[in-house]
This record gives sequence, structure tokens and C-alpha cells, in this order.
Amino acid sequence: MLKGKRILLGVTGGIAAYKSAFLVRLLIKAGAEVKVVMTPAAHQFITPLTLATLSKNPVATQFTNGENGEWNNHIDLGLWGDLMVIAPASANTLSKLAEGRSDNLLVAVFLSARCPVLVAPAMDLDMYSNKATQINLVRIQQNGVKIIPPGTGELASGLSGEGRMAEPEEILKFIEATFTNASRLSSKKILVTAGPTYEAIDPVRFIGNHSSGKMGFELAEALAERGADVVLVSGPVSLQTKNPRIERKDVVSAQEMFECCMEIFPTCHAAILSAAVADFRPKNVADSKIKKGASGINEISLEETPDILASLGKLKSKKQILAGFALETNNEIANAKTKLESKNLDFIVLNSLKDFGAGFGTDTNKISILTNEGKTINFELKSKSAVANDIADHLVTISPNEA
Ligand code: CTP
Repeated sequence: MLKGKRILLGVTGGIAAYKSAFLVRLLIKAGAEVKVVMTPAAHQFITPLTLATLSKNPVATQFTNGENGEWNNHIDLGLWGDLMVIAPASANTLSKLAEGRSDNLLVAVFLSARCPVLVAPAMDLDMYSNKATQINLVRIQQNGVKIIPPGTGELASGLSGEGRMAEPEEILKFIEATFTNASRLSSKKILVTAGPTYEAIDPVRFIGNHSSGKMGFELAEALAERGADVVLVSGPVSLQTKNPRIERKDVVSAQEMFECCMEIFPTCHAAILSAAVADFRPKNVADSKIKKGASGINEISLEETPDILASLGKLKSKKQILAGFALETNNEIANAKTKLESKNLDFIVLNSLKDFGAGFGTDTNKISILTNEGKTINFELKSKSAVANDIADHLVTISPNEA
């Protein structure tokens, strides 16, 4: 899979730099071409000669080579790679990546690279959990960089915790997945809805629900990672997108979400609606704040909001794929099947509030996918990002391959 792929490996100063040698060997064995760029501090942990010998290419550290002034052209290096991997990435380098600094060759190459970038942080547990490092990681991800999470275990300091660089075999899996995933949904436009909707009672009050939007945001990331152009229509949430392939449209009410989706869906390959849309809204919205003791305030008359998923189901062409979520508390399978059929869906993602760890606000979810061919696929309790990968992979398997 990596045959002929050009990998730029950035190595920074940390004890995990010794593992870079194993990573280079794995990459070369897999058929990749490898060029290594090191920071000056990395030389204290592993020699350039080791990495040059294993990669079969000279290692670059400085902007110029020795006395003859030969230039290590960071722009050419940045454009050479099909993928850049920075492993290990020290706390210092992470802060430079987040700020866009270019005071050494490695970070200058990072700024010049047009290819996807993977970063494998490696540091002591307190440095890793420090707010400054965590903020840097968020900023880097917002620039489209993918983080390979560090492992937990014994650290060079003798302490034990999170911060240890992922093992070379695991980094290799991330590299392979980046190449396979990147094209699986490329040139497909996919609509995703997320979060709650707020239905106004008066200018300061609303009817809403506890949806955090996490599932829909993770789903948008998983689809974008597979090369899709995602339009994420989100209700009010306090989340941010990371992948630049995601175009975000913020809405507040069910009506706004409905109008936005109806406009976008006709040009989409697929839509997955995960938003917890309010089913009812106040019939009349007061123009000014309702005061205590106002007459008739003991009841609010409600009317139904438009069912966005069902409306898209009516619009759907044979080529389009439509999926929804069902959050159920009882008769889960039967209720989900009814929704699957009545809303004309290709599949529905069922999560039961009875399952521990599933539902609103949690970082985990336990789902089943029910298909319009009558299949039920059950999954274990997983992080919402792993669940998002399962759903995105299911979409890949049922998407027609137009290549
Ligand atoms: N949905 C929607 N528009 C609505 C209500 C729901 O698009 N007005 C979508 C949700 O995004 C979800 C699916 O429909 O993908 C199922 O939502 P759910 O609330 O479980 O089902 P409802 O059809 O609203 O039925 P009920 O609340 O009675 O279970």
C-alpha cells in the first residue's frame, strides 16, 4: 500500500527519537521512499547517520549544509512529500507548529507542506496534560493536522501516565489509513446535521434539549478524513470543527435547519442526520419577554416542526444515500425500523438510552445500524469518534464506486 509513497519524517528532540529508526525501517520495508528532517535537539537522541543509513537518503537539519552554503530547500522538501509525519513531536515543536513559527528547518518544511500531516506527540505526562500543550494540540488540529494519540505507561522520567509516543507499528497503521481513507469518499459532498435546535418562546427563552452535538461533529470529521466535502449544519453547540474539508453552517431553530438542509441536499451524494431536532415549537412567539404574572402563561400552545429527515426522504433520488439516527428508550428495534421505512432511509443508527454510556453528553456511544435490506449490525460501546468511524465505513461500503 505504501509502495512508492513519499514520506517526510520529522524527528524532534525527545527520548522517543530512538523509535524513529524502527519507524523508518517499517516504512522502507513497506516500499515507501523516506526523507528525514531533524531538529538540532534531535541529534542528542539519535544520530543523523543512523536515520540516513536506514532511509537511504541524506538527513537534513539546517537550512544550509556546511561551508559550501548548499541550501536544504524547505519548500522543495515540503512539496516532495505525499505525507509528512512528525514523530516524536516534542512540546516545544507542538507550540511552534501551533504558532506557525519557522525558526528551524523542520517547522519551515511543515509550513511549506501541502500534503496531509500526522503528528505523534511524545513527552512527560505533566507536559502533555498541561493546558498550554492541550491548547496547542487543538490549534494544530484546526489546521487539518491529525494527531496520533500518545500511549499510557512508563515514561523516561520514571513516572507513569499519558505522553509516551505511539509505537512505530501503530504510527504505520495511521500512515496506511491516511492513504486508504483519503480517497474513499473523495469528490462526494455529504450533509450532516448535529446538535439540538432551540425553539423560541420569547426573545430570551426557548424549548431545547440536552444534545451536545458531539456525535454529529465526530461524524463530520470521520467523513472529511475519508475525503468527503462535508456540510455540517449545526444547532447551538459549543464545539469546533477541525478538518478544513468541513463547511459549517450554524442554525438555531428546526425551521432554519430544515430550510438549510432542503437547499443543500439536492447537490449531495449522501446525508446523515444526527441532530436532535425539536419535534414541537411554540405556536406563537412573544415579541417581548413574558413577564411574571402575565395572563394565560400557565400554558404554551405547541405545533409540530417540519420533519427534516422525512422531507429529505421524499426528495431523495435513487443515487443518493440517506441515513438518520433513532434515540429510543423502549421497543428500540421496532421503532427504529418504522422510522427507517417511513422516512425512506438507506440505514438508521439506533442508540438506546437504556445502554450505559450511550446518548446525550457522554463521550461514548453504543449503536446498531439497521439497513433497508433488513440487516442489523451491532457494535460494542465505543468512543464517539470510533462510532463515527464505523458509520463512515458503513457509508463507504454502500457508496457506489464511480472511479
Ligand atoms: N429528525 C428530523 N427532523 C425532525 C425530527 C427528527 O430530521 N423534526 C431526524 C433526526 O435528526 C433523526 C431522526 O429524525 O435522524 C429520528 O429522530 P427521533 O427524534 O428519534 O425521531 P422522531 O421521528 O422525531 O420520532 P419520535 O421523537 O416520536 O421518536
